[in-house]
Amino acid sequence: MTAVVEAAAGPDVRIGIDVGGTWIKGALVDLASGTPAGAVRRLQTPPGGRADAVADTMDRLIAGLDAGGPGAADRAVGVAIPSIVQRGVARSAANMDSSWIGLDVQSYLRSRLGRPVGVVNDADAAGMAEAHYGAGAAKQGVVLVLTLGTGIGSALIVDGRLVPNFELGHLEIGGAKAESRTSAVVRENEGLGWVEYAGRLQRYLSHVEFLFSPDLIIIGGGISACANEYLPRLSLRTRVVPASLENSAGVVGAALQATAGWK
Ligand code: BGC
Repeated sequence: MTAVVEAAAGPDVRIGIDVGGTWIKGALVDLASGTPAGAVRRLQTPPGGRADAVADTMDRLIAGLDAGGPGAADRAVGVAIPSIVQRGVARSAANMDSSWIGLDVQSYLRSRLGRPVGVVNDADAAGMAEAHYGAGAAKQGVVLVLTLGTGIGSALIVDGRLVPNFELGHLEIGGAKAESRTSAVVRENEGLGWVEYAGRLQRYLSHVEFLFSPDLIIIGGGISACANEYLPRLSLRTRVVPASLENSAGVVGAALQATAGWK
């Protein structure tokens, strides 16, 4: 088994890790195809989400993924985190310990993991994965990827290039933060039916559409699997499509960032 994964791990294989509030997921990712070169594994996020405990968990995850062989010990890792990430430094922390804020996550993880590390916002990772390999592949113009999960993540990609840290989940609409009314978890917690939820999405998306005039909106996060429940109820001038990479978008996008990190 180990040998099979390693055989697939050619020069274009990087490690992608996606840090969430509940799970830390990781995979070897084949950058030529944008697919995991083996299983996506996950370990529970340590309670509290402190940076040192999260780094320990990543180390264990990588040990379980990396099958050894030539170059494996130096294989670069890309890490997606639910934070604004500016030149490797976290500037916010959603569902994570506040000790992340101000931490040079990239340098910290480089020394903790002993490998090249690139760090990116989780929605930016998922967005870049969709733009490279998924629903936005080869699309020119302004592509907006929204991930509906615990919060709302957003990625803006213009002619294939990311505008980082586009925090549209924090837009205030009607006096409330958009993600506090319209995330997938809010739908579950409030027990909203699809008609009511689609109404909230409509309000949010039409505001976003008015402000940014995207050419394409891609809806990601676990909720993209139920797209036929809400997409037909939306009325926008912009085309809205579900994400196509589903659960692997975060790890694939993180892997894309593995060697593109700030030096
Ligand atoms: C955070 C973003 C993150 C998104 C999805 C938001 O609350 O501010 O940085 O991308 O949640 O995790």
